[in-house]
Amino acid sequence: MTYSIDNIGTKALIPTKGTVRLRLLLALLCIVGLLLIAFYSEIAQVLRFSLLQSTIICSSITTDQSLAHQDNVSVAACTCSNTSTDLLTLSSPSTQPDDEAAKQWFANKFWHMENTFPLCSMDSCFNFSRCANMANFRIYAYGPPYYEPLSYLAALNSTPWLTTNASEACLFLVTMPTHHVRPCPPHPSTLPHWNGGLNHVIATLADRWSITAPPPHTIGNASVLASCLYETTHRPGFDISIPLAGKTHLTHLQSLKPWDRKYFLTFRGTRYLGHKEGNFRSNPAMRAMHNGKDVVVAVTCNQVTNNEIREQNPDAGKGCDEDESRFKRYGFRELMNSTFGLVPAGRSPSSYRLIETMSTGSIPVLISDNYVKPFEGLIQWHQCALQFPTSEIARILPALRAVSREEMKRRQRYCLFIYEEYLKDDVALVSAVVKSLKLRFYGMLPQFNEALPIPLSGSSKEMKVSRF
Ligand SMILES: *[C@@H]1O[C@H](CO)[C@@H](O)[C@H](O)[C@H]1NC(C)=O
Ligand SMILES: *[C@@H]1O[C@H](CO)[C@@H](O)[C@H](O)[C@H]1NC(C)=O
Ligand SMILES: *[C@@H]1O[C@H](CO)[C@@H](O)[C@H](O)[C@H]1NC(C)=O
Ligand SMILES: *[C@@H]1O[C@H](CO)[C@@H](O)[C@H](O)[C@H]1NC(C)=O
Ligand SMILES: *[C@@H]1O[C@H](CO)[C@@H](O)[C@H](O)[C@H]1NC(C)=O
Ligand SMILES: *[C@@H]1O[C@H](CO)[C@@H](O)[C@H](O)[C@H]1NC(C)=O
Repeated sequence: MTYSIDNIGTKALIPTKGTVRLRLLLALLCIVGLLLIAFYSEIAQVLRFSLLQSTIICSSITTDQSLAHQDNVSVAACTCSNTSTDLLTLSSPSTQPDDEAAKQWFANKFWHMENTFPLCSMDSCFNFSRCANMANFRIYAYGPPYYEPLSYLAALNSTPWLTTNASEACLFLVTMPTHHVRPCPPHPSTLPHWNGGLNHVIATLADRWSITAPPPHTIGNASVLASCLYETTHRPGFDISIPLAGKTHLTHLQSLKPWDRKYFLTFRGTRYLGHKEGNFRSNPAMRAMHNGKDVVVAVTCNQVTNNEIREQNPDAGKGCDEDESRFKRYGFRELMNSTFGLVPAGRSPSSYRLIETMSTGSIPVLISDNYVKPFEGLIQWHQCALQFPTSEIARILPALRAVSREEMKRRQRYCLFIYEEYLKDDVALVSAVVKSLKLRFYGMLPQFNEALPIPLSGSSKEMKVSRF
């Protein structure tokens, strides 16, 4: 059977005695699940959204047919597979390390998801003969019925790499929904060309893998293209980290030298009150960097989820009012005229701010734990960005003040090179995705090799070209 929300939905909507009993049973399971989640209040806070989703699932099950009609997707998702398992998958990390010390370590690392993808590499989980005889690289993109290309991956449509003929594909690209719209992660084995996930790439830009993507143990031989990959669990050379596309590009600032800018270090963005992940943006050390002169850290709590949280628990918004008056004093564009730009992770380790700061010729300063930076195989990030774990915020300013003009210049130059080459728009991003995918073959399929540019070390803007 292939994926079909229609089929599943129709089945769910015929109210036989059996299904009524089943609904009651599922409702009971949901309530038990919710109680368990509520009990572990910390987990519930971290995965507040999961809780909301569980509630949606439960209400879809217990409401009558007409209401269920309004949300066929939820109903379909609830009947798509084992509800108890799916609730578990959503509300707790999918796998836990066995020993206590490791558990403790994971618990203290923000953004670390204990996803354990199957052990795989290009050597053991890839069918090279699918690609060997083709003159050019071919990708077949498909997915569940709600398939729609993901953000900038839509630009693949206008490239020669996409094929509509599955039998001539080297890779199969499956995109997951961007937002938390589907309560149950789909089971990929029902995809028509799945073949155990061989030569498949599962793509997601979601905050957390477990919310929209299939449970890690179900992905078989497939590799992963995601913006939420972690140093401790990703499979180097097999999985690829992708960025969130920038929303605002201020390229007119690029020509300013790093030391000729209005500010030294800036950040303007949202605090996240309900998520363990974004909590460090409320960390006093973070805001202590602000000096009102050349360093500006302006945050706001004004955001939908935050506002709901503050309504329920006024104490949650400690410092929010002070933050708000500072936040209003500074404009985003003005703050982008800065030597360094802070890129603190938010609800997920990747941030829109990375590409945005780079568009202006600022040097990005990342704060995040365990984050696999985008297109790691292509980009030598250490030549551009500076990176700090969330526990080392106090080191940021002293470290940046010690950066020489020479080093600033070098970093800015390499950052701008990366931006132009791989990040500046949808076409550049898609071509970086394809280059990263091709890199997995190194030189073994010579027809896929292509010239990759590298920056010259001198001051000239020309790019030297090398073959890999
Ligand atoms: C839900 O499914 C029913 C039956 O298949 C269909 O008639 C109805 O239009 C669907 N509703 C939505 C919102 O898709
Ligand atoms: C549903 O999940 C439970 C718990 O993981 C498992 O014991 C049970 O066998 C599953 N049922 C089906 C039909 O997969
Ligand atoms: C690998 O691909 C070749 C060519 O498409 C095919 O004949 C073969 O059956 C595939 N092997 C596996 C294990 O799928
Ligand atoms: C699809 O590709 C296969 C393998 O290259 C080829 O034999 C077949 O004719 C193609 N089908 C169409 C409709 O182009
Ligand atoms: C990958 O596929 C091979 C057969 O094609 C299978 O033996 C192996 O178990 C699969 N690996 C995973 C992690 O599923
Ligand atoms: C950026 O800041 C510098 C230094 O304050 C100023 O001279 C320049 O005009 C600013 N540029 C823009 C585009 O705001």
